[in-house]
Amino acid sequence: MENERLFRHGVVYQIYPRSFCDSNGDGIGDLPGIISKLDYLQNLGIKIIWLSPIYKSPLMDMGYDVADYYSIHPDYGTMEDFDRLLEEAKKRGIRIVMDLVVNHTSDEHEWFIRSKDKTSPYHDYYIWRKGRGEDGMEPPNNWTSQFTGPAWSYDPEVGEWYLHLFSKKQPDLNWHNPKVLEEVEAIIDFYMKKGVYGFRCDVINQIYKESLEDGIGNAASGRGSEHYLMKDGNHRILRQIHDDIFAKYPDSVMIGETFNVDLENGRRFLENQELDMFFHFDLMELDKAMFGAFHKKVNPEVWKKTAFKWQEGVSWNANYLENHDQLRSINRFGDPKRYWKESGKMLAMFNLCLRGTPFVYEGQEIGMLNLPMRDPAKSKDCVSWMVADILKKYPFPKWFKRRILNRIDRDHERAPMQWNDGVSAGFSTSKDTWIEVNENKSYINVEAEKADPDSILNFYRRLIAIHNESEALCTGEFIPLETKGSVIAWKRKSGDEELIVLLNFGKGKPKLPAFAKGKETLLSNYEGESKNGKLRPFEACLLKA
Ligand code: GLC
Ligand code: CA
Repeated sequence: MENERLFRHGVVYQIYPRSFCDSNGDGIGDLPGIISKLDYLQNLGIKIIWLSPIYKSPLMDMGYDVADYYSIHPDYGTMEDFDRLLEEAKKRGIRIVMDLVVNHTSDEHEWFIRSKDKTSPYHDYYIWRKGRGEDGMEPPNNWTSQFTGPAWSYDPEVGEWYLHLFSKKQPDLNWHNPKVLEEVEAIIDFYMKKGVYGFRCDVINQIYKESLEDGIGNAASGRGSEHYLMKDGNHRILRQIHDDIFAKYPDSVMIGETFNVDLENGRRFLENQELDMFFHFDLMELDKAMFGAFHKKVNPEVWKKTAFKWQEGVSWNANYLENHDQLRSINRFGDPKRYWKESGKMLAMFNLCLRGTPFVYEGQEIGMLNLPMRDPAKSKDCVSWMVADILKKYPFPKWFKRRILNRIDRDHERAPMQWNDGVSAGFSTSKDTWIEVNENKSYINVEAEKADPDSILNFYRRLIAIHNESEALCTGEFIPLETKGSVIAWKRKSGDEELIVLLNFGKGKPKLPAFAKGKETLLSNYEGESKNGKLRPFEACLLKA
């Protein structure tokens, strides 16, 4: 039965393997480290883990540049470690979702290296073209990379240009070539046979380049995307993968990362059985100013409208507030100082009580925050390096450049997981971790929060337990409730079970809506009902209707 599928009843926990737990003291998280924390995840109530890439890779884009889909990066362990992870997770009722990065490979992938020989069949695995201009020294079109700069690089040995929608070390695969589909299906099948539950498919709505004509639009936002975003060919390929592979594995999940998706294409992904769910980015855009280089305060009414549009617009959502590409949510949408706990819990309730599969990113469950502002030269993020390079050309003041780089740097959310207040927060026995540990480990860490009944961690644990037991929260209907200002509320309903989710998305003290008065509270981030008929800052309650 469709409603019984695991992903409709479980919470997904995203692990960024490099930063989760280091078992051998080299300052880098690894698979044995993950295995050692499975009991923690089971105890938290997690049913599905999504692993960011662990494949062999030069790590230009931290694994989103795969050099071999069939082997594990030695930093993380071996294929035997991976098999053991699958087995140990299974014992605890946890399934593993892998990251499938197939819009592009690394330029160090054997396919790409061979593709430089124009007579090789691999040449057509990528998008090689002659340049424009008399000497062919201008790129084949005006597209820009989503990581800044032109989307084409010239290879003098080949005498041609290759397309890369991301960095030049991430050449795009040619999805017009049926061999590429065959290779990708073989990779999927290899891991499904091992017992993997499914895949989170990286930038999967841009794999099919319908034409290579010049693009319109702004250079800073990926010029040319109208030629490759969610084209018919893209839908066709995903459906084909479903028919060829996933029809064989009904107990599975396909999750799409779909930047700039709209309702029409979103519905098509679901209704045509191309994906089981997908990530939209609309909430993530709301606090951005000037192409994401600056922060602005989110208007709760716009937040509500945006979230509800997707809740009502498609049959299933992938709900998230954080991941390895997004700054920590309390910094963005809550209050990391005065209302760290309250806002962290309110955001948890928002994310876990919507209709769809909730995703929790490592450390979100303990309220981890962004790294403090630091020297941009320390960044391990290739996007920071590229933007820093561009900024060098402009005479802006240093503080201004630092602010931009601080805002876009993905190290903030990739800093090591904080397990305790010891050396490197218990992430590693080494002081020398690949990204430095946040100093707030003194109070934001698993051990301290386990011991505190009022902690963000214990709130997540209770909320996940309620979620997993409640048909209304798992598969129930989503019914919006009318509210004003910073108050956001909705109902979830399945059979006789009816719950109200009531949130104050801000620091103010708005009026408690009439529909919430006198209702039994299942979970709240404050003690007792507020006396004066007002909600408290970032108050969040789950009520019986
Ligand atoms: C996705 C990944 C991101 C990566 C990009 C290119 O957005 O989540 O980390 O840099 O794709 O693969
Ligand atoms: Ca290690």
